Amino acid sequence: MATWQETFRGKCVGAAQALAAVRSGDRVVLGHAAGEPKVLVEELVRQADRLTGVEIVHMVSLYACEYTKPQYRQNFRHNALFVGPTSREAVNSGRADYTPCYFSEIPRLFRDNILPVDVALIQLSPPDSHGFMSFGVSVDYTQQAAQSAKFTIAEINPQMPRTHGNCIHVSEVDAFVEVDHPIPEIPLPTISEVEEKIGAHIASLIPDRATLQLGIGAIPDAVLKFLGGKQDLGIHTEMFSDGVVELFEQGVITNRYNNINPGKFTATFLMGTQRLYDFAHDNPSIDMRSVDYTNNLLVAGRVENLVAINSALEVDLRGQVCSEMIGPRQFSAVGGQVDFVRAASASNGGKAIIAFPSTGKNGTISRIVNVLSEGSCVTTSRNDVHYVVTEFGIADLRGKSLRQRAESLIGIAHPDFRNTLRSQT
Ligand code: COA
Repeated sequence: MATWQETFRGKCVGAAQALAAVRSGDRVVLGHAAGEPKVLVEELVRQADRLTGVEIVHMVSLYACEYTKPQYRQNFRHNALFVGPTSREAVNSGRADYTPCYFSEIPRLFRDNILPVDVALIQLSPPDSHGFMSFGVSVDYTQQAAQSAKFTIAEINPQMPRTHGNCIHVSEVDAFVEVDHPIPEIPLPTISEVEEKIGAHIASLIPDRATLQLGIGAIPDAVLKFLGGKQDLGIHTEMFSDGVVELFEQGVITNRYNNINPGKFTATFLMGTQRLYDFAHDNPSIDMRSVDYTNNLLVAGRVENLVAINSALEVDLRGQVCSEMIGPRQFSAVGGQVDFVRAASASNGGKAIIAFPSTGKNGTISRIVNVLSEGSCVTTSRNDVHYVVTEFGIADLRGKSLRQRAESLIGIAHPDFRNTLRSQT
């Protein structure tokens, strides 16, 4: 029987040869976010002329989504499971599709052949001495895509951190392409005065020994700035970034009181700077698991004192939260928001927090509204929402009547819009 080293060598090919496996009409799933296999995607686009109707599925892309450009209309069609800056225009102009789904359910779409995967293009760390490779910064749905696909092609990148947690063996991959490129970095967000105030309010809701889920962006980072005086915090989240590393180094995050995975950071993907990626490399305290584990209500809901911090675009006076659409325009997606709002509700001592600046468009509109904008949608239902936070304070909606909700929400709206909101109720 061949050794794993022989198997690996036998499967190493150039990118052009590997991508020959993609046929017209195939569904191709790309590894997620900072784990996207850049070289393989570039080669796929280079082979556009021989392909028609290839469906390209992924969530966040940190690259240019070249295949969504008008000149590739016949060759490729993107099916977005999350909408980000580089796919937004294509989705909203009709050149790409958007499929609503909770992040926790995406692996199941692949595993149960609801979205059968023809080819998975992924990126992995080099094999260890046993022939296992790590998914590095992105396990999320990438693992299930690789394990469900008829054909899996993996970039092997020595710059991909070797993370602990879920892994894949060389025998499970069909072709390897050796590459050497940096993992894309997300610059640290600049935190405005408004976000600082929001961060301080949220921090006041976080007790010592809480376990945190953090969304993406300036608000989670602003919260982290105010946690320096807390003790023994933990992380069970979908993703985390550099701010968490800083709090670990300050001794604030110990994960000691996480009752289901003590001593461990639990996450499904990482996005940040090289500092984060260096921290993640070969770090046994970081448990990188697939998203149907991290975001699963039956797992995250058992984490005690789980505080979920997420953001929104608009909240109406009944407490309905829209986090993904600006009017009829798909701006973002549900991602893991509802997974974690529900998990925090189920958690003993848990709190679900939705936080956002009270105004948008340079202060010209209120993000607390009587009725959600026409054409938009409810992301988190009014039955699930607990705390809503703006720079003007905290509205605690759990167990509150519609009348009480409206009063509390008007109380944290921007003062310039409070009278109008009152007159609309
Ligand atoms: N109407 C019109 N424009 C609005 C608006 C509204 N109601 N609300 C916000 N905007 C504008 C803002 O002014 C801003 O524009 P600008 O950059 O030109 O100033 C832009 O939309 C983005 O708003 P911002 O508050 O900066 O958004 P964000 O980057 O903090 O992201 C969400 C907020 C809600 C889109 C983001 O958290 C998200 O995608 N959430 C859903 C997924 C999720 O929660 N995942 C959680 C696990 S990671």
